[in-house]
Amino acid sequence: MVSSPLSTSPAPIGVFDSGIGGLSVLQALRHELPHEQFVYLADSGNAPYGERGDAFVIARTRTVAQHMRRHYGIKALVIACNTATAAAVELLRAEMPDLPLIGVEPALKPASLSSQTHQVGVIATRGTVNSQRFARLVAEHGGRAQFHVQACDGLARAIEVSTEAPPPEDASATEIRALCARYTGALGTFGVKTGQIDTLVLGCTHYIFAKDDLRALLGPEVQLVDTGAPVARQTRRILAQAGTLAPEPASAHPDALAGPAQIQLMTTGQLGALQSAALRWLDLPAHCCRTVDVPLHTQPLPTR
Ligand code: DGL
Repeated sequence: MVSSPLSTSPAPIGVFDSGIGGLSVLQALRHELPHEQFVYLADSGNAPYGERGDAFVIARTRTVAQHMRRHYGIKALVIACNTATAAAVELLRAEMPDLPLIGVEPALKPASLSSQTHQVGVIATRGTVNSQRFARLVAEHGGRAQFHVQACDGLARAIEVSTEAPPPEDASATEIRALCARYTGALGTFGVKTGQIDTLVLGCTHYIFAKDDLRALLGPEVQLVDTGAPVARQTRRILAQAGTLAPEPASAHPDALAGPAQIQLMTTGQLGALQSAALRWLDLPAHCCRTVDVPLHTQPLPTR
């Protein structure tokens, strides 16, 4: 039997977060899918989402999804935000059945499988930890480990502020450290001895950018678990199933692989903040970034 050639699509993949946190997922996506084009939207003008309630988060997520689809012709959308995924992904899947949506959720399963002490800490936004989706995850994986859960009000915001221009670097760095210390302290004792928490799930995409502070507080033996790489692999699987992976460049020369020209970054907030985050974490130059206005739609929109 002769198999037909796989189809491909050069359309961009949309990636969206309440702010700069999703850049950590974009980093993993670039690594996993080097031939793809990406359009990233940081809704920093409306961040943080974690303390704003479901109705607001659903309305913003819906509006951004429609915007990215209409203006950029995205072939899939990665909701690189645990809070938005928890509040809106099921609803949006029902409203836009023909747009593949990939959400992120706290990595309770891998953490529970790899913890040796069976004590797992989870830090996430209030919106995420209060969601039904999160309750289902805990129920599903709670047989293998005890989860110690902490909502971290203010931490995503402090991480956003740390990239805003002019940078109040000292104040925001101090605040990030203090919040990390307060919230991990509230979870219990970390370590690899029996009864200690040996694994911490970073259940908000912003928190990866506080990894150095968390590592300094918790020590080298505690595992920090995030979701960037698994989400990138899942995105590849979904595009492959849909036959919409990007065509591979004819040349195998490394220069033909992903470069800044294949990534556009947009923010509804401060341009300088996005530019400094993009440079710091993805090594992307300022000209990849611009501001965008995404006014709120309050009603579901038709998908076409
Ligand atoms: N980065 C988002 C998440 O993964 C949310 C941060 C926020 O806006 O509160 O949950």
